[in-house]
Amino acid sequence: MSAIEVQPISGALGAEILNVDLSEHLNNDQFNKIHQAFLDNLVVFFRDQDLTPGQHVRFAKRFGELDIHKFIPGLPENPELIPVIKSAGDTNSNFGGIWHTDVSFQEQPALGSLLYGRKVPEYGGDTIFSNMYLAYERLSNGLKRTIADLRAIHTAGQVYGVDKRQESIQRFAYGDESMNVRFGADAEEEVSHPVVRIHPETGKKSLFVNEVYTTRFEGWTIEESAGLLKFLFNWSTRPDFTCRFRWQQGSMAFWDNRCVQHYALDDYYGFDRIMHRATIRGDKPV
Ligand code: SIN
Repeated sequence: MSAIEVQPISGALGAEILNVDLSEHLNNDQFNKIHQAFLDNLVVFFRDQDLTPGQHVRFAKRFGELDIHKFIPGLPENPELIPVIKSAGDTNSNFGGIWHTDVSFQEQPALGSLLYGRKVPEYGGDTIFSNMYLAYERLSNGLKRTIADLRAIHTAGQVYGVDKRQESIQRFAYGDESMNVRFGADAEEEVSHPVVRIHPETGKKSLFVNEVYTTRFEGWTIEESAGLLKFLFNWSTRPDFTCRFRWQQGSMAFWDNRCVQHYALDDYYGFDRIMHRATIRGDKPV
């Protein structure tokens, strides 16, 4: 096979990596090139991969220990892989159709996620990614100073809390046919993370708030926090900071949750979309 090539897909973030077969054992040189492309481009994509769940897990584990999702059961034989499914006849909203960073409700949110397309719609069902370094860098110096020492509260309660069960099941594709989500009182736990975090590998600063899991600033009320949070949510997902990925069967996307948000489009009614996601455990944001 020829040497690995990295082709950016937008000016903001995202690159396709060519000439690599992820089903095979990667040598250190191949691994280092992929790792560097991941740090440089924030989200990388591979096409035409033919992977068993075991090979998906093996590739993901090259980057760190894998997380077991607290609320979404994994595959019986590969608990580190969660199925992200919406079936053709399901009229409910999809999983991931709000801007977010994976599992930011944990003390140690995800380093990265590797999503693999097993069955994808003929068209629709793209995923959009947003560069949270840019979202921070493009703020005015005044606002950078205001948020410099702020911390924000993150919780899974809004999604997986017991009192959300009824609403979530009615609204989202969370049923026997699609995703079998667990709701629990433990979802209400709150953690605090810095609003501006420093990436442990690149040393760069990024905004670290998201609409799904961030509820307020630490020491501020929900009401006081709402205006500034809303601004930051909208700002960080401006089209200029994003790229959009069109899936094919066998595509893999690997994004860095420490500096990327993502959004799964819900525009494929009538088609099945079946994906598997591995999530790599990250460190405590600083
Ligand atoms: C996710 O939020 O992890 C799922 C993204 C997608 O289905 O495109």
